[in-house]
Amino acid sequence: MLQVKDLKKTYRSGEKVVEAVKGISFSANPGEVFAMLGPNGAGKSTTIKSILGLVIPDSGEIKVNDIDVLKNRKKALRLMAAVLEGNRNVHWRLSVRENMIYFGGMRGLGGKRLKRRMEEVAELLGISDRMDQLAGKLSRGYQQRLAIAIALLPDTPVVLLDEPTLGLDIESSMEIRKVIRELANEEKLVLLSTHDMKLVEQTADRVMIINHGRVITLSGINEIMEMFKRRAYRIVFENGISNELKEKLSTFGKFSEDGGKVTLNVELKSADRIYDLFDMLKGEKPTISSIENEDIDFEEIFMKIVRGDKS
Ligand SMILES: Nc1ncnc2c1ncn2[C@@H]1O[C@H](COP(=O)(O)OP(=O)(O)OP(=O)(O)O)[C@@H](O)[C@H]1O
Ligand SMILES: [Mg+2]
Repeated sequence: MLQVKDLKKTYRSGEKVVEAVKGISFSANPGEVFAMLGPNGAGKSTTIKSILGLVIPDSGEIKVNDIDVLKNRKKALRLMAAVLEGNRNVHWRLSVRENMIYFGGMRGLGGKRLKRRMEEVAELLGISDRMDQLAGKLSRGYQQRLAIAIALLPDTPVVLLDEPTLGLDIESSMEIRKVIRELANEEKLVLLSTHDMKLVEQTADRVMIINHGRVITLSGINEIMEMFKRRAYRIVFENGISNELKEKLSTFGKFSEDGGKVTLNVELKSADRIYDLFDMLKGEKPTISSIENEDIDFEEIFMKIVRGDKS
């Protein structure tokens, strides 16, 4: 459905040269939520804008349903809808309804078809009871819902969302996460960019982590979580351990103490380091009351990958 091959983009303004995207490749499929995760300046928005033909890349290939975006932008755009950062597709002086009629019209929609689609998307985004309110008077969360509703009017198979939950209240974020899953269930491809881990954890099928314009990892959400869980354990020593052993084990992780109980939060740099750990334990044979897989949250995983402690 969407293929991006070796995308590169350098911004030049006067003396300043910024290599924003340094060769990003991926493909994404219908029915999938594909998340681009990365810190500020990673190149997420540049990638999305390139897909939409709003930014002309230096090199690379972008195809939507086999249509080349760079050569055939108009035709490709018929398959895509987007909400960019700062959602400029909402007119503050128009009501919710007027916004939909206006922007729907720009996408060639009108009459009964537009009316029916307006009802559908308003229902989906939970804004049916606000159709006559001025967009400028809505909360940030409801403005974002409206922006997404407008983008969904043409019912395109590809939906691009740049930071869809940035700065939103909890309720609107939740609603938007629900909508994103719903769109994937309707066999659309949703490509989103974010640094909101919760959004990724709860909606994404696959995650591409990018930093400094390069892909750091691309895999299924479960694989990413697993990859790190396997290497993080919590070992509880019932009756404490000697200072000598503690010193030796400190290369494996951090200790915490609670009464006589000592807990070691192990983080293995590679999976087979576990044998070295057991070798050390064998000497003193402290009483181990439990060894558990530690739950790491996604945010931590993300920070680790970005810092590069993946190996
Ligand atoms: N129009 C532009 N002119 C010059 N530099 C730009 C322009 N747009 C983006 N950049 C630079 O390119 C790099 C990538 O920017 P981009 O907006 O793609 O990152 P991002 O991942 O979307 O970041 P954020 O999380 O802050 O939105 C940054 O260093 C940014 O400053
Ligand atoms: Mg951005």
